[in-house]
Amino acid sequence: MKKHLLYLLLLSCAALSAQTNTQELIDKLTLDEKIYFLIGTGMDIPGVPDDAKPAEAVVGSTSNKVEGAAGTSYAVPRLNIPSVVFADGPAGIRISPERESNPGQTFYATAFPTASSLSSSWNTALAAQVGEAFGIEGRDYGVDFLLAPALNIHRNPLGGRNFEYYSEDPVLGGMITAGFVNGVQSTGLGATIKHFVANNSETNRTALNTVVSERALREIYLRGFKIAIEESNPWAVMSSYNKINGTYASENKELLTDLLREEWGYQGFVMTDWFAGTDAVAQIKAGNDLLMPGTAAQFNAIKKAVEAGELDIKTIDRSVKAILDAYQKTFAFKGYEASGKTNLEEHKAIARKAAHEGMVLLQNVENTLPLKPESKVAVFGTTSYETIAGGTGSGDVNKAYSVSLAEGLKQTALITDAELDAVYEAYVKEERAKIPPKAMFFLKDELVPEKSWTTAELEAIAAKNDVAVFTLGRTSGEFQDREEADDFLLTETEKALLTDLKKAFSAPGKSLVVVLNVGGVIETEFLKNHADAILLTWQPGQEAGNAIADILTGTVNPSGKLPVTFPVALNEVPSSANFPGKPLDPDAEKPANPLQGVPSEEIYKEGIYIGYRYFDSFEVPVSYPFGFGLSYTTFAYENLKAEADDVITLQFSVTNTGDAAGKEIAQLYIAAPQDGLEKPKQELKAFAKTALLQPGQSEQITFTVKPEDLAFYDTTKHAWIVAGGQYTFAVSGALNAVKLKATLVLSETVVEQTKALLTPEQAIEELSRK
Ligand code: BGC
Repeated sequence: MKKHLLYLLLLSCAALSAQTNTQELIDKLTLDEKIYFLIGTGMDIPGVPDDAKPAEAVVGSTSNKVEGAAGTSYAVPRLNIPSVVFADGPAGIRISPERESNPGQTFYATAFPTASSLSSSWNTALAAQVGEAFGIEGRDYGVDFLLAPALNIHRNPLGGRNFEYYSEDPVLGGMITAGFVNGVQSTGLGATIKHFVANNSETNRTALNTVVSERALREIYLRGFKIAIEESNPWAVMSSYNKINGTYASENKELLTDLLREEWGYQGFVMTDWFAGTDAVAQIKAGNDLLMPGTAAQFNAIKKAVEAGELDIKTIDRSVKAILDAYQKTFAFKGYEASGKTNLEEHKAIARKAAHEGMVLLQNVENTLPLKPESKVAVFGTTSYETIAGGTGSGDVNKAYSVSLAEGLKQTALITDAELDAVYEAYVKEERAKIPPKAMFFLKDELVPEKSWTTAELEAIAAKNDVAVFTLGRTSGEFQDREEADDFLLTETEKALLTDLKKAFSAPGKSLVVVLNVGGVIETEFLKNHADAILLTWQPGQEAGNAIADILTGTVNPSGKLPVTFPVALNEVPSSANFPGKPLDPDAEKPANPLQGVPSEEIYKEGIYIGYRYFDSFEVPVSYPFGFGLSYTTFAYENLKAEADDVITLQFSVTNTGDAAGKEIAQLYIAAPQDGLEKPKQELKAFAKTALLQPGQSEQITFTVKPEDLAFYDTTKHAWIVAGGQYTFAVSGALNAVKLKATLVLSETVVEQTKALLTPEQAIEELSRK
């Protein structure tokens, strides 16, 4: 049998290796075959009623190769061209766990921590290790392209898909993306960076016009993509659903050709988001090579345009070439036979490690954490029993299991209150049974309502326990943004429970620990005043409960820091004034088809002032700043040496000065001279995470800054310019937690002259510092 497989493998390799020259392949294709390369084979959308599907959506089937994958390409058997498989997503390989073709076998994938957790690790090597595990699972299950990572900016806390995205800062997001892509592609699986670009809200996402200044686009929204392309060369880019300054991203030549290919030199291909845009011919002309998941209408429109002389065959050939160049690198083209089995055991350990590093300790009054072994623990909150591994929609993963916090704690030396566990387990089971199954897989999961307790009940529980651990859960997903009431803000039941728990566990020696099992930012001011310790775990993947327990017990020292600011109030976030945009016609009715939205506009009036760039520059107090995170140990920063040559280098040492082994994240914030072009007070330009330092151990860190890293985009000159004057380099443990400082005087330099691209029709009033 083995021999037979090897023979097959050799045969298919031989068939294709004779055709590695893409141009030779293209010359052999008929017009129809070329057009088939520009569109996917369609999609049977699970759960969407037939009359709500886009017209002629299904031109083929994705299920014949890898069931549950998001898409496939056409095969051309006469030329030995196989089809390739595209599968989501940012937290793991999203495919069906069962296949009709293999009854009895399962194809579960590992659910890794969600993107916000991975970026909280600030660990690019870890991102690469996680990416490699994705690559191995994709390869073993027959996938060729991963539809991830997603690196849209966290513009507003209510963004429904923020859990799939990395950060409010493009340098952190871009570098984590690059690490992850390098890991994925090291295995031979192609990565697709998405959603290009300025897709920061979900409401009406397919009919939304994002109106944004050229400067904010370049300095914030495009910057992470540029970093990712330079540092990791992803095989594909997915354009976003929205319009950018009036033109759909997938139909936007300035975005996809002038900027991405000509200015940035990107060599891969661009695919649409699923069913994005309205004009197939405009998409191909703009440089959006592949239309996914593919419809018969798109095929017909492209063919008609070629026959009418409206679409040049050279344009088609250009896209086919970009697509085939990438396909040639895939497992399918190399004749790789997927085994259908993958290393779930090893990846379980990687998922647990990644979850550890993404957890951020926000508060730890009088060293409440780590909990002493054999402490008696009362576990509260329904999400302690149904811990949320990840969000919903295409970012979901069909995992074999998920460990709840209650289960995780039972594996430790802590003594959990079995009676309380039993009450919650029965309650959760009963309430869960009342919730009808979701009509469509991508809809948001409904959480079991929080359980209320009387003061007397809580006092009785407190009398026999040392610690209350309360988990607060939130979930979100595609198509919808979050709400302020009962989501960003705590519910009345949660507030009442926290108030009563604080009272019940206020005696000396007792404490209240709050675990935040959330996909995005929530209100933390109320929490701060009630909890002794707050651990932000995000949605930490299938090993959730084990990983949280490791941190609570001190088996692992928390080492995550915030990739996003936690504001005091939602209305203090400047984008809240215009999030998630407004329908152009206020009376417009929502279309029945869930894939369509109401034509809307979202004006990014805050310009470059996103996240800490706003709060810091305008001195608005926050609940927890960007880059913040506590540890069970302490670190000293010493011996800064700064040198400026072609690049600027800063060298210093970090020493573990406490009693526990731990990892530190050092961050470099640079303040540019404030005269001339208005600028944020300071910006993150580099960061590094140490290895696990034992008490007393040191590590030497070097930051390198290139002149272009210091440039700001001057919209009047369409150029990246380094302002002349004095720069402050702050080596910090978090924003404004400065440990070491250097200053340097630089002269003005134009580092790059660009074309005017993606300019909004009307100037957008950005906030002024004055
Ligand atoms: C999402 C993409 C995803 C695609 C395929 C779309 O709804 O926006 O992120 O990759 O579906 O599942």
